[in-house]
Amino acid sequence: KRPAGAPDKSLARKVTKVGVVGAGLMASQMALLFARRLEVPVVLTDLDRARLDKGVGYVHAEADKLLAKGRVSQDQANRLKALVTGSLTKDAFADADFVIEAVFEDMAVKKQVFAEVEAVVSAECVLATNTSSLSLTEMGSGLARPERLVGFHFFNPVAVMPLLEVIRGASTDDATLATAFAVGRSLKKSSVLVKDAPAFVVNRLLTCFMGEVVAAVDEGTPLETAEHALDGLGLPMTPFALLQLVGPAVGLHVAETLHEAFPDRFGVSENMAKLVESGKPGVYRPDFTLDPE
Ligand code: CAA
Repeated sequence: KRPAGAPDKSLARKVTKVGVVGAGLMASQMALLFARRLEVPVVLTDLDRARLDKGVGYVHAEADKLLAKGRVSQDQANRLKALVTGSLTKDAFADADFVIEAVFEDMAVKKQVFAEVEAVVSAECVLATNTSSLSLTEMGSGLARPERLVGFHFFNPVAVMPLLEVIRGASTDDATLATAFAVGRSLKKSSVLVKDAPAFVVNRLLTCFMGEVVAAVDEGTPLETAEHALDGLGLPMTPFALLQLVGPAVGLHVAETLHEAFPDRFGVSENMAKLVESGKPGVYRPDFTLDPE
């Protein structure tokens, strides 16, 4: 069944090679999924050699895990490893049909990335962003062809979470949108079309939960009590484990974006902001002591 708002699938372009910008955890998980489900070459790029090697290494290790679990054959595991390669430059995207970015959640950085990508790809190549909160329309505003930009938002862990938010910017055309839905289908995700609004839909809901749990702890609710908050709704992870999975910096960024857009509805925990600023890894804890000013 065609998802609500999805254009006719006959408009979708064929995808024979994928580019992924950034080689962090989310990007590496995406590279593995594209290679496994689309069975096409996937190039990961990153400016940092160590991060790139780590990203490609992640894909190889996951291919071995899939083999050990009997989910893929030895040949398929070898093929997965061969399909995903790393490059320090975006020239490797010259023959890609679908390039997705998963770099830091910063509008200026993402615009710069797309300007560089657009300089090397074909006119037909779809540009996708895994942004979890930023405006598609603004992101596309600097592009020569903004109609080929689409939001393609995965959830962590990418291999497991079934949903994909597909976002249409003001200029996104039907062929681009149809291609995004076709790729989502090949990835075996359940895609929904959402409006280009701050933090789209899922992160608005999640930020309500997470923001209130963090606020409750800030106000003195014992950690053990707060840790069971989402259990009460039957959700599979405790709030602080989820915050850790998403990354406190990402969680904070989404909360800030929503606070800016809807100041009367979303707050930002000062403790959480200080924790992220301090660069200290680890789970948010109410007993986290901040250095005196
Ligand atoms: N990468 C790949 N696979 C993973 C994984 C990971 N990081 N974590 C778990 N899995 C797989 C396991 O390998 C296992 O697969 P098999 O059944 O094939 O062996 C399966 O998931 C279940 O894992 P476990 O049995 O170890 O543990 P679990 O049953 O507790 O499930 C979980 C783990 C899937 C993470 C589950 O706790 C869960 O669904 N948590 C909620 C996650 C969530 O809410 N994500 C959304 C975050 S919001 C976001 O991402 C948006 C944003 O923009 C900020």
